[in-house]
This record gives sequence, C-alpha cells and structure tokens, in this order.
Amino acid sequence: MFIPRIFLACTAAAVLAGICGCARNTAGGDAMKPVSFGKTADGTEVFLYTLKNRAGMEAKITNYGGLVVSLRVADRNGKLDDVVLGYDSLAGYLKETPYFGALIGRYGNRIRNGKFTLEGKEFVLAANNGPNHLHGGLKGFDKVVWTAEQVAAKDGPSLVLTYVSKDGDEGYPGTLTVKAVYTVTEANELTVEFTATTDKPTIVNLTHHSYFNLAGDNQDSTILNHVVMIDADRFTPTDSTLIPTGELKDVSGTPMDFRTPTAIGARINADDVQLKRAGGYDHNWVLNNTGKGMRLIARVTEPTTGRILEVLSAEPGLQFYTGNFLDGTIKGKYGRTYVHRYALCLEPQHFPDSPNQPAFPPVVLRPGTTYTNRIVYAFSAK
Ligand code: BGC
Repeated sequence: MFIPRIFLACTAAAVLAGICGCARNTAGGDAMKPVSFGKTADGTEVFLYTLKNRAGMEAKITNYGGLVVSLRVADRNGKLDDVVLGYDSLAGYLKETPYFGALIGRYGNRIRNGKFTLEGKEFVLAANNGPNHLHGGLKGFDKVVWTAEQVAAKDGPSLVLTYVSKDGDEGYPGTLTVKAVYTVTEANELTVEFTATTDKPTIVNLTHHSYFNLAGDNQDSTILNHVVMIDADRFTPTDSTLIPTGELKDVSGTPMDFRTPTAIGARINADDVQLKRAGGYDHNWVLNNTGKGMRLIARVTEPTTGRILEVLSAEPGLQFYTGNFLDGTIKGKYGRTYVHRYALCLEPQHFPDSPNQPAFPPVVLRPGTTYTNRIVYAFSAK
C-alpha cells in the first residue's frame, strides 16, 4: 500500500513553531539543520540555528548579530516557554531593535562623547546615544553577519560565530578578530564565550544583550514581580546622560542594594535621583569577588512559574537594565506588545566609559594577548 509522506519544509517559521525535524548530535543534544532566516539589506542570506539539549531546553540563534531569537526553558512543571524578547522574522530586527538578544561590541555600553585617547592618540566614535557612544556604534557587532559553524561540544550543542572587524571599523583602532561561542549545555545553561585578539592596541568590552521575561507564556505584564539578587556592595552612579560619574557608591540603604533578593517593583519608583535619571534600573554594579574567576553574580526568580535564572561571569561589572526605554511601540513575537519594563537585561561586562576613567578596571587589548569573557545564563525552576 502506498503511504503518502508529508515532508515539512524547514523554513524559519516552521523551526520557530517547533515542527521541523532534527538530528541527534554526538553530545546528546539536538543539532537541527540551519534554516534560512532571510536576507539583510545588502542581500546576504543569514540563517537560524537551533541548539537543543536532552531535557528540551532550546535556543534559536541567527548569525545576523549573533541574536538569540528564542530561548525555551522549563518552568516548575517542566513546561517549556520562550523567555526572551525578539521578533518572529529578520525584518523586525532590520527595521528597529533595542539590541534584542544581541552580541554587543566592540564596546558594550556608553563611552562619553564617543571619544577616548589611547597611547596619546584620540579616537572618535559615533555619538549614537545622545552625546555618547553606545554598544559599538552605528553598525556594531549586533548588526553584522557572523561566520557560523555548528559543533557538538563536550558540554552540549554549540554555535561558533566568528567575525573580523577591520582596523578603523566604527572608529576603533586595530583589526579585531572575535569569536563568540554559544552552547546549550546539558545542565540547562546558555553559555556565551567570547575571545578576541588584535593587531594594534585597542579597547574591547563584549557582552550579551538578551531581554528576559521569565514568565514565558504567562508574560502578560512587566518584570516588576521578578525577584533579583546582585552580588555587589557598590555601583557606579551616572550623570544625566547615563555616563558614570567615577564614584563607586556603597549600595547600603539605597534602592540599588540587591544583596538580599528583592522584587524589582519594590523600589523602582522610589524618590531616588539615580532611578529618576535612568527611568528605572539602568546601572553598572561593581561586583564582589572580582579577580577570583567565574562566580555567581546575579539570580532572578519569577514567582508565578518558579523559573530561576542565575548569571555567572568573571567580569568586574554587571549592567542591570529594566527595559525602561520599552514604551509599547514595539510588537514582537507572538503578537506581544513590549510595554514599559516588560523585560530585563543582565550584561556582565567592564564598567561603562572605562576608556575615560583611569580608576576603572582597564579595557585595553594589546597584540599578543587574548580578551576573554565567558557568561553563563543557568536556568532552573522550583
Ligand atoms: C543600556 C540601556 C540601553 C539598552 C538598549 C542597555 O545596555 O544600559 O541604557 O537603553 O542597553 O539600548
């Protein structure tokens, strides 16, 4: 008897909907074949890669900007939901994005007036955020096409992304060769491991910019109920343009004290000059235990689903941003409207404006040395 077989085309939409077949890789996780995610403005085709572990945790990542387009993790009942903001298709990202899910470089966060001096020479970068430079400039690493290779790493399925940023790219000195490796581990972590080398002295500060709302499908509102712990005794207060003043301020007695887990909404509207200036939390925390390698720096718990996100890194700083600039004008995946404070970002990195702040941990990379930043986003539920 002839049995008709239906072959599903592995389109990006089919992959996002989870109805496309995949092959088991040697690490035990699933490495789906990449599917087309569309074409950039100059006609370059980019792809959507799926990394999935045995437990079903799954990240979909495109080599355009290294964007994490979706991230499905379990709640306390084992239900997998997407916990990051983004768009259903490449068109959304090409039109407008506040760095949803992106790889950020060459310099994560702000540089005052887009200027810095290195070895006696001044470099001028784009002022793309008021008077300041933000997240690498007009065409940062979030808007370039990376070379991608899917591999079965020891910890789980990985996506290896590489990019060579030319000397002078966006005003930065030196040819910067960057590698960013995403892995979905069998321990339910999404890890991002950056390395970079240069042929001239330069500055580097790479990070990852997912917007998390751990409520997943329950996410009918904001992240104000998410409970946050940040292991930091101090933070860097900012001026009205969100550039650090240079002070390392004790968090004690301020709404910036997250050493005891506290709901974001508990103090976000407090009468505090720092919160008022930034429209909420949008600050760099001076993390404890810097210099001691990878350590737990932050934990976020979502009470309705029980999801927990723990962040580990060896970096000295953590930018904690509560989506204050989301204003309901962006409609993202699943038809959701991204209203004010709909998501939060946790960006392990060096401090903002470090190139102009000699007292901050240095961000200079020289030929012959390798920049590294490993970030672990570890998921669990209770
Ligand atoms: C910054 C915010 C900025 C956001 C998106 C964050 O890293 O701290 O001020 O609005 O990125 O652009």
